[in-house]
Amino acid sequence: MKHTAFAAISAIALTAAGVAVAEPQAEVLHWWTSGGEAKSVAVLQKEFADNGGTWTDMPVAGGGGDAAMTALRARVLSGNAPTAVQLKGPAIQEWYEEGVLADISSVAEAEGWADVLPEQIAEHMKCEGAWCAAPVNVHRVDWIWANKDVLEANGIEMPTTWDEFNAAAEKLQAAGIIPLAHGGQAWQDATVFETVVLGLGGPEFFQQALVDLDPEALTSDTMVAVFDQMRTLRGYVDDNFSGRDWNLATAMVMNGEAAFQIMGDWAKGEFLAAGKVPGEDFLCGSTPGEGFLYNVDSFAMFDVKGDDKKAGQDLLAELIVGPSFQEVFNLNKGSIPVRTDVALDKFDDCAHLSSEDMTASAEGGALLPSYAHGMALRGAQAGAITDVVTAHFNSDMSSADAVQMLADGVANSM
Ligand code: GAL
Repeated sequence: MKHTAFAAISAIALTAAGVAVAEPQAEVLHWWTSGGEAKSVAVLQKEFADNGGTWTDMPVAGGGGDAAMTALRARVLSGNAPTAVQLKGPAIQEWYEEGVLADISSVAEAEGWADVLPEQIAEHMKCEGAWCAAPVNVHRVDWIWANKDVLEANGIEMPTTWDEFNAAAEKLQAAGIIPLAHGGQAWQDATVFETVVLGLGGPEFFQQALVDLDPEALTSDTMVAVFDQMRTLRGYVDDNFSGRDWNLATAMVMNGEAAFQIMGDWAKGEFLAAGKVPGEDFLCGSTPGEGFLYNVDSFAMFDVKGDDKKAGQDLLAELIVGPSFQEVFNLNKGSIPVRTDVALDKFDDCAHLSSEDMTASAEGGALLPSYAHGMALRGAQAGAITDVVTAHFNSDMSSADAVQMLADGVANSM
């Protein structure tokens, strides 16, 4: 049989030695569609193609991935799962329990992932002892981004306490500047909320409230104070915030319409994609308080038929955790490499701060999973919390009512 005819029938190629090998194929479901995100995912597409793979892109727009997860459910229910899916946190284990994820342990073992990944993060990638996802990066959620010129023109320093933040916001508002660029979408409300929980309550309180779901913490005075601060922040956003995409909020900080944005460091990817320079055009600082909220992007491989698809999954997994991808991708994405052996020489000060704070937080027990980005809780519990946070932010609900709703909602979701 001629090589060309053979390949056409089965997408199988022959190596020089005449051994049949499958040509790697992957249909990849992800939600990386903003400027910085698209630039980052292009790095993976290129590496995949350079290594002989054929990539079928399945982008589903919508920050935070809610729309992507809805699309995934529909595909899996119709018995036609994508080859590889951007999936993270406990959702990985939830899908594994459905019996639809592939085991990628052979790649993980061949590539020595256990030796180069922090243990706490490696745990998220395992399902009943097997490797079931490949980690891409470490995003930090608890960041404030600021327009440097706007702060300087108004004599404002990067705030280090929430009181300082509020004072700065009042001053900016009086000067006619929108203090806080925000997009009124549930996941963005949740993002701001969790940074306030960490900041006002501290790492131990965050763990009790948003990881362990301790009813006492959920109804505590501290949680009342958190909702009070959310109400205060609501006063610092503009009238058009409803439904705004996160990257448009970032653009408001870039162009000086707004001073601050509270958002994970994918926002830095946006600044960088627009040619902005950290320390010159924009500033980064952790949100007030101790600790580090991590959000690790990862890809899980779904159980699909066909040697070409399986080869695609193996190749993708290998590339994703590979050192060269880890460097180039994360330089674009705003995150830091998940591998501990990638040098940060080419990374900016924000990335260095992230890396240093991550190490220090891990030592002090303050390295915590982001609830807003699906790292801490299963979907039902996280959803119950977000419903209350959003309902409170978009109404005049009192903080006392909010904590009660929070405890009830969480209890009903168990
Ligand atoms: C996060 C995701 C990031 C970023 C962001 C906005 O959940 O982990 O990679 O893209 O959503 O879409």
